[in-house]
Amino acid sequence: MYIRRMIFIYKGLINFFVFIKLVSSFVALSDHVIRLIRLLLWLQKDHKQPKRDFQKNRRTEMAFTVNLAPLPLRSPEITAGNSSSLKSGISFTRKRQISAFAASNSTEEPPTIKPEIELEFIGPKAGGDGKYPVDRAAAVSGDKLLRTIMEDNKLELYGTYGKLMNCGGGGSCGTCIVEVVEGKELLNERTNTELKYLKKKPESWRLACQTIVGNKENSGKVVIQRLPQRKK
Ligand code: FES
Repeated sequence: MYIRRMIFIYKGLINFFVFIKLVSSFVALSDHVIRLIRLLLWLQKDHKQPKRDFQKNRRTEMAFTVNLAPLPLRSPEITAGNSSSLKSGISFTRKRQISAFAASNSTEEPPTIKPEIELEFIGPKAGGDGKYPVDRAAAVSGDKLLRTIMEDNKLELYGTYGKLMNCGGGGSCGTCIVEVVEGKELLNERTNTELKYLKKKPESWRLACQTIVGNKENSGKVVIQRLPQRKK
């Protein structure tokens, strides 16, 4: 009886140890499986990374290609001298962008210098020393009538009759007479009104309200004698 009990206990212990061994083996196996799964996941992740990098690089490359595409292959300023710039598409691109930026920001236009006519007005009366006074003025070429310039500079144009009876520049009174002493070629040709009122007068006489000073392109000096009819 005692021996049977000992055998039973012995078998129970053996079964218990076998059970423990199976459990520990199972745990160890589970640990290995988990490690294997982790390894597979790591490998999968490690193989995907280069693919993403490749896709990223591909996108960058495409963007770079799109940026460069609209630009011409050569520009005059580069072919003129700096060949090193041609070796670098990036520096060329930057140069173009800087030029375009500068061009878009350069709102100031260079000032246009219009040609001018210098004018000297002699008279109308001689001074005590017998010399005629001279007044000076300047006008943009082809911009104004001689009458307007004299008015702007407060230079008397009319004689006594003209002061009262002038037509105000309408070309119907013939009182705004001047003599062109110098610079006739800088003025317009005589008009039909002048041909009518100055028919029997010297060719150098003009009607100030019909005389355009300059032709917008010429420049030079014009000398005008005021009230030439008083000199005669
Ligand atoms: S102002 Fe009358 S013709 Fe010149």
